[in-house]
Amino acid sequence: QYKWTFQFPLPIPPVKAPSKTIVNPITGKNILYYEVEIKEFQSQVYPDRGPATLWGYDGISPGPTFIVEKGTETVVRFVNNARLANSVHLHGSYSRAPFDGWAEDITPPGWYKDYYYPNSQSGRTLWYHDHAIDHTAENAYYGQAGTYILHDPLEDALNLPRGYGTSDIPLILSAKQYTSSGSLFSPADETTSLYGDVIHVNGQPWPFLRVEPRKYRFRFLDASISRSFLLYFERDAKVGTKVGFDVIASDAGLLNAPQRVNELYISMAERYDVVVDFAGSKGENITLKNAREVGADRDYPDTDKVMRFIVSGNQVDDQSNVPAVLRSVPFPKPKSQVDQHFKFERSNGEWKINGVSFADVANRVLARPKRGTVEVWELENSSGGWTHPIHIHLVDFRVKKRVNGKRSVLPYEAQGLKDVVWLGPGETVTVEAHYAPWDGVYMFHCHNLIHEDHEMMAAFNVSVLQD
Ligand code: C2O
Ligand code: CU
Repeated sequence: QYKWTFQFPLPIPPVKAPSKTIVNPITGKNILYYEVEIKEFQSQVYPDRGPATLWGYDGISPGPTFIVEKGTETVVRFVNNARLANSVHLHGSYSRAPFDGWAEDITPPGWYKDYYYPNSQSGRTLWYHDHAIDHTAENAYYGQAGTYILHDPLEDALNLPRGYGTSDIPLILSAKQYTSSGSLFSPADETTSLYGDVIHVNGQPWPFLRVEPRKYRFRFLDASISRSFLLYFERDAKVGTKVGFDVIASDAGLLNAPQRVNELYISMAERYDVVVDFAGSKGENITLKNAREVGADRDYPDTDKVMRFIVSGNQVDDQSNVPAVLRSVPFPKPKSQVDQHFKFERSNGEWKINGVSFADVANRVLARPKRGTVEVWELENSSGGWTHPIHIHLVDFRVKKRVNGKRSVLPYEAQGLKDVVWLGPGETVTVEAHYAPWDGVYMFHCHNLIHEDHEMMAAFNVSVLQD
């Protein structure tokens, strides 16, 4: 039992500074160069137990936050001084294949790799995390995850709450399990899921954040290895009263228009940016709660709570606002023909996609979209009661349709572009994407990292060649 719920402040990951500027020999433009060391550190999670040993980017978890302007290229050297091999994926970036964190492109301990990122996409919340073959769950769970914020001038011109760490705050969710000595319970031997009964935000279990009575932009990322959430804000003084908020952005940046909601579904690797206005809540406590039941974890007493906001201070002159129109989302050209149908299955204790596992090297390339074309993929969950957040690398997709489950496409899923979609039990979700701008072999997979490590992953080959 954790006895310090809402007793420790929310940590804000520090901003990563580039160590130098280098000149792109071809374009003559500046490239920002960063160096990150993956190393061991201790984290005192339970005040009355020993520390937990973690391995994180720059020896912290979450890792430092990158803040990059659209159009500024970056090179990041990831030096692996951890105990396991690693591969770094910048999730949400249309990286060239050699820099996309291909699972088998691993950097052994003692080595480094330089990753190049173009950063020419629209403003969005990306994240970087480990993607090493068979060990992604462990590496991410033990600390290898951080956010990467891309700003763009169109978004900066809007008057949304801004200022990293003051009015624009990342809320990186994760869920873990600890032993009685205070160390982490490892997911290494799990083959289905590790939900985790201790809910962390930015690395701190059940933190609190002091806020002023004004608007804040929160960038939610579910960095858990297996836990998805149904989030809502509740007034402590009036249990049962939810505080409405605006969803303004998803995986690939701003939605067309803000979506007013009382609750938000978020599964692993999804990002949703929301604006919450505390102006009417002066002097109150507001608790961020989770209404999503995860079967096996129902016994744990606190998985329904996430963090607390303490609204204090005087009324402030809040100049920010949420405009009625945010942007015109560049959806792919609509197409009715279905190009691919993928079944996410569990058979004989194994996770597969259309009967194929990632280890089946000869058969794992399941699609060959021509570069520059739009394809429609149907993603079918035929694995019984399991949920699978499906991530397609390289592209931003439109969520067109969801059938056979309990929900249809939610407005905040439909009004923007995404790179992960929640695929609930029995559901079939249709997604449409423009396969561009690069050729290459990329992965798509379930983002329950235990499923991913147990082969629920395949590849597609974007090519300019004719069949
Ligand atoms: Cu966020 Cu292939 O991963
Ligand atoms: Cu899965």
